[in-house]
Amino acid sequence: MAHTLIDGKQIAAEVQGELSGRIDRLVETGHRPGLAVVLVGENPASISYVTAKERDCEKVGIASFDHRLPVETSQEALLDLVARLNADDAVDGILVQLPLPEQIDSDLVLQSIDPVKDVDGFHPLSLGRMLTGLPTLLPCTPHGVVQMLVRSGHDPAGKHVVVLGRSNIVGKPLANLLALKQPGGNATVTVCHSRTPDIAAVTRQADILIAAIGKPEFVTADMVKDGVVVIDVGVNRVDDATRKRGYRLVGDVDFEGVKERASAITPVPGGVGPMTRTMLLFNTVVAAERRRGIE
Ligand code: GUN
Repeated sequence: MAHTLIDGKQIAAEVQGELSGRIDRLVETGHRPGLAVVLVGENPASISYVTAKERDCEKVGIASFDHRLPVETSQEALLDLVARLNADDAVDGILVQLPLPEQIDSDLVLQSIDPVKDVDGFHPLSLGRMLTGLPTLLPCTPHGVVQMLVRSGHDPAGKHVVVLGRSNIVGKPLANLLALKQPGGNATVTVCHSRTPDIAAVTRQADILIAAIGKPEFVTADMVKDGVVVIDVGVNRVDDATRKRGYRLVGDVDFEGVKERASAITPVPGGVGPMTRTMLLFNTVVAAERRRGIE
């Protein structure tokens, strides 16, 4: 089957283009939108994500405030920083990069972020508002996936969408977003996870398959039906001595095999990643507008 590539970079550029006028307007009113990015420790993947997020901000004219803390940082010190960022008028959005070191209770930290500045959309209040269809800041990867589907002409409405994975960051919020009675939703959603007895039997029923389990090339050609639309959220580092960095990035989907059956598929890299980062910029702009009373 001739597949089309769903180009995350291109769709991300389109969304960023839509944001630039809104950022200009905020700057004209004397307030450049600002994002505080907090990283604890030196997880290599986290460092590269955080660096990319700050670079994105600079590119679109959002101020970024970088806070890098040592791995041994106490929970109290981190909560103290979040409290200061909550009170800082120049900060519209607060992002605490996950995972956090084990001495820190991540749930407690996420709950300490002012929901008005919760640009990750991980606060229970943000998630609860999302679930009930109230206006809120949506989690970036789930929102990015929905935008990608709609903007590439694959509206999930009426489709059977199978979500592989049930994390708090992706699977759970995404499954709920897709089932909402609103634009970008209205899908019939099935969630599969590590305790699903026969995953392939379920994924083969998917019109749209979304893989978010963090297992390299888990989804193979025999697990999908012809014509499926595949969104690969996975970003896995696998050892590769032929690469300068010593690794390459692969998704949760065996791209080469699955693309032969798919009608459309996202690449890794260049698929969901750029959309996640762009929805963070989107949320920062929305948070800034709401805080300034601009609608
Ligand atoms: N770690 C992996 N993905 C994310 C994300 O979207 N936001 C934050 N804060 N941490 C992450």
